[in-house]
Amino acid sequence: MSDRDPDTAPPARSHGRKAIRATARPRELITPAPQLHGAWAAHVITLFPDAFPGVLGESLTGRALKDGLWRLDTIDLRRFGIGRHRNVDDTPAGGGAGMVLRADVLGPAIEHAQAQAGAPQPLIYLSPRGRPMDQAMMRDLARGPGATLICGRFEGVDERVLEHYGVQEVSLGDFVMTGGEIAAQALIDATVRLIPGVLGNEASARDESFASGLLEHPQYTRPAVWQGREIPEVLMSGHHGKVAEWRRRLAEEITQERRPDLWAVHEGSENSGD
Ligand SMILES: C[S@@+](CC[C@H](N)C(=O)[O-])C[C@H]1O[C@@H](n2cnc3c(N)ncnc32)[C@H](O)[C@@H]1O
Repeated sequence: MSDRDPDTAPPARSHGRKAIRATARPRELITPAPQLHGAWAAHVITLFPDAFPGVLGESLTGRALKDGLWRLDTIDLRRFGIGRHRNVDDTPAGGGAGMVLRADVLGPAIEHAQAQAGAPQPLIYLSPRGRPMDQAMMRDLARGPGATLICGRFEGVDERVLEHYGVQEVSLGDFVMTGGEIAAQALIDATVRLIPGVLGNEASARDESFASGLLEHPQYTRPAVWQGREIPEVLMSGHHGKVAEWRRRLAEEITQERRPDLWAVHEGSENSGD
């Protein structure tokens, strides 16, 4: 028998709160990966499970994780490795620098993650070649059941795995990092904060950058004067209409100046009446 049979591989680590509900199968409550009924679930395949939850365990996302508003399972890729040393990589076919994650290691890990997820959910490989992350993508993901995220290392993964499982590639930006873990955490953070109940104040997500296609206006708080710089007078006026008008004007100016690409889309949608 294979020593990396997913059925015999140790189960994924789970973070967050257990769902407690009446069941005919009470053993469910003592498994290391309890099913949180209906909660958005991230299944992360990684060689570094200890990197999770990382910063996701802090502040609002951390509290929401403990409260069961979302769930995080890490799947240690090493456990699917081959042989006594549980090798996960090999040299690139055709030669060249570095190592590539093997299809016959990653494949069983993906199937294990999918079985654990139960219902189908997006399968994403964090990759510099992927579609750049944006707020629209996070909104779509937040509306779904969760995501299975593959964190690459070394030179990346065997292309056949991506083809075979129809994996989407998603990038954090036009730069190369040593692994996909930071990108996975960025994706999870940006998605989970859109799940109802995660942000203390739901208006924050409604008014922030990208929500209406614009970057956000400048923000200020006390003291009223700092290093000789004053808070713009209109913000201290108590006149809600004028404050809203000022914020809108500044959001437009900043977007136009910093992100002509966003501005062009925004102008197009305003003109078409969308
Ligand atoms: C050193 S990179 C591999 C880069 C790959 N050889 C290339 O040139 O496209 C190792 C891993 O880091 C992750 N990674 C690196 N940069 C990334 C980015 N901008 N967005 C998402 N993941 C990234 C991927 O999971 C990748 O498999």
